Amino acid sequence: MRIETVSVFPQMFDVPMSLSIIGRAREKGLLSFAAHDLRDWTGDRHRTVDDEPYGGGQGQLMMVQPVFEALDDLLAHEPATVVFFTPAGEPFSHAIATELSKQSRLVLVCGRYEGFDERVYTRADRCISLGDYVLTGGELAAMVVTDAICRLLPGVLGDELSNVEESFADGLLEFPQYTRPSVYRDLAVPSILLSGDHQKIAEWRRKQSILKTAQIRPDLLERASLSNDEWSIARAALKDYNGRA
Ligand code: ADE
Repeated sequence: MRIETVSVFPQMFDVPMSLSIIGRAREKGLLSFAAHDLRDWTGDRHRTVDDEPYGGGQGQLMMVQPVFEALDDLLAHEPATVVFFTPAGEPFSHAIATELSKQSRLVLVCGRYEGFDERVYTRADRCISLGDYVLTGGELAAMVVTDAICRLLPGVLGDELSNVEESFADGLLEFPQYTRPSVYRDLAVPSILLSGDHQKIAEWRRKQSILKTAQIRPDLLERASLSNDEWSIARAALKDYNGRA
């Protein structure tokens, strides 16, 4: 897969895109990445990318012309899914990461200032928000999305199972995990995990996932696929937590 970003701070991507799992994915040829400088598509001496909003208002907006020309060039010879980052986009999720990970090429367009001239969105295949808060720019959002996609690409994570068992893959939060020592200060690892009984451990983990989701993210339960028995566990937990709140 190829991911390209367009922004006024391409150098922000240097370190995050070179280290750890993303760095290794690039070395192995599983991901190719390039950060383009939006100012390369400006026409004036000052390489201007922003201007005042028509009708007045606070701050500056990203101009339509450099974004259009960047996309004209980048899409001239090869198609790509074009993604814009904005707080007014669809909330990013595991489901969106999975969909994007199946595309062969993504162009991620990152804004700054008070946002984009609305006309840029005529070039968007998707607009994505990281959450209900305002970032100083879309670069961090592009890094988060690239990171979440990269670990879903075949061959990137050593253990293929780690994607399946994880938070959100089945619509639930991940069960609690522990490593050595089995007791630290007065904190002991649940004894079932030391029992060697894999069937019981799998059942315990599933139940813990349901309990944790009911406590922290009850909104996720509606879309999770639970058996009737599991629904009873979830409902009892929700009643319990609501009673305590
Ligand atoms: N740009 C500014 N805030 C953002 C957010 N919450 N998500 C995506 N892009 C943004």
